[in-house]
Amino acid sequence: MATTSGDRGEWGSKLGFVFAAAGSAVGLGNIWKFPSEVAENGGAAFLVIYLLCCFVVGFPVMVAELSIGRRTGKNPVGAFKALGGGPFVLVGYWGILCGVAILSFYLVIAGWTFSYAFSELFHGLGQTAWSDAFAAQGSGPKNAIFTLLFALATFLVVIGGVQSGIERVTKTLMPALLVILVLMIGYVLFQPGSSEGLAVYLMPDFSKISTGLIFQAMGQAFFSLSLGMGALITYGSYLNRRQNLPEAAAYVTLADVGIAFLAGLLIMPAMYAAQANGIAIFDAQGALINSTGLVFNVLPALFHSMEGTIGLILGVTFFLLLSMAALTSTISLLEVPVAFLIDEHGMKRTQAAALITTIVGVIGAAVSFQLSLIGSLDLVFNTIGLPLGGLMICLFLAYAWKTTNAMAEMEDGFPGVRDSAFGKIWPVAVGIVSPILIAIVLTTTLINLF
Ligand code: TRP
Repeated sequence: MATTSGDRGEWGSKLGFVFAAAGSAVGLGNIWKFPSEVAENGGAAFLVIYLLCCFVVGFPVMVAELSIGRRTGKNPVGAFKALGGGPFVLVGYWGILCGVAILSFYLVIAGWTFSYAFSELFHGLGQTAWSDAFAAQGSGPKNAIFTLLFALATFLVVIGGVQSGIERVTKTLMPALLVILVLMIGYVLFQPGSSEGLAVYLMPDFSKISTGLIFQAMGQAFFSLSLGMGALITYGSYLNRRQNLPEAAAYVTLADVGIAFLAGLLIMPAMYAAQANGIAIFDAQGALINSTGLVFNVLPALFHSMEGTIGLILGVTFFLLLSMAALTSTISLLEVPVAFLIDEHGMKRTQAAALITTIVGVIGAAVSFQLSLIGSLDLVFNTIGLPLGGLMICLFLAYAWKTTNAMAEMEDGFPGVRDSAFGKIWPVAVGIVSPILIAIVLTTTLINLF
């Protein structure tokens, strides 16, 4: 398909796309949120439901986004326009809005993770006053500065363009992230107490399963796979016609759930190792300390309780790992509105990235001073926004554009798609099963709110 501007781009290789899309998927959602959701919700029971949500609902929606993206070669707004979407064009605008809003608070949390790498370094060097200053999650200027630093880093990658910016950086960071994660798991599993955490993680407590838990798992699947706002329409628009779309989506889904699983294998044993070192992991009500406290209080306490330099090394490495995972995600969140400005408004990539970075930087800095905004933004644009977008994408694909046209698009790169098992199941998944399940989750979420 024709591209509208020389500032668009194309992935250099299939692996390049998979790394970039997996980088988008793997983020704070996997390493920060997922393990604590598992911990609160019956260990493997949550894991099983989460995997079902990813494969039954997430994967079909991902294929839908990729085929819309590659067919049109456009950002979400341009893509719906190009396919004659009528009112569905609003879904594209909604996606861009969700991207900007999610990025604005995601940058704040990403900024924390980065500042904690410094905090751990200073702590290891005996500079506790410095360490405490960098570790504060309270609102204030330190937060704002790290938020802006993270926005700047994201900007610098995105102005590099699709191949020499996004692809090059994610191709380096993703393997590094995997290696660090595996090494840390190896170390933590030898710590006293860790086997108890492993047992809690891997032994399902099915009594904890409730409808609320299923909704939480579904929301987490959308966020973690980066679905529902057109990030994968955009990344799909940079795919060439030789790529097999369902196969590419399968790799990305597997990479995402694989890293989430590994993150659980690190965090759950680490929590119980912390407990064995005398660190409290349950609050006064007997509930497990939640995600923010878990990653930003319990884990540093564990690192500090370790002898010698190993605590220093683990602490710095862990927060760098989180920062890397966050960066490959903020890149994708920034790329969507940037692609929109390039395609629809003929802007240069650098201009577009500067404009959006300024907007999210200003909102992010404001959020840094008013942390309660995180919850509100998260509720509207993530918990409600992403499933709503996903639902609309399914309905658009199945009933406006039609699955047979999407299949024709997939035949480039996967000639036998119509006769494959995938080709038989996917139209039902995207036209019936996913929309119904998403609609149930959304309605219940909304009813519970009001
Ligand atoms: N998937 C990322 C995570 O797990 C967050 C993210 C990046 C995202 N890009 C996205 C979420 C696009 C929704 C849409 O942390």
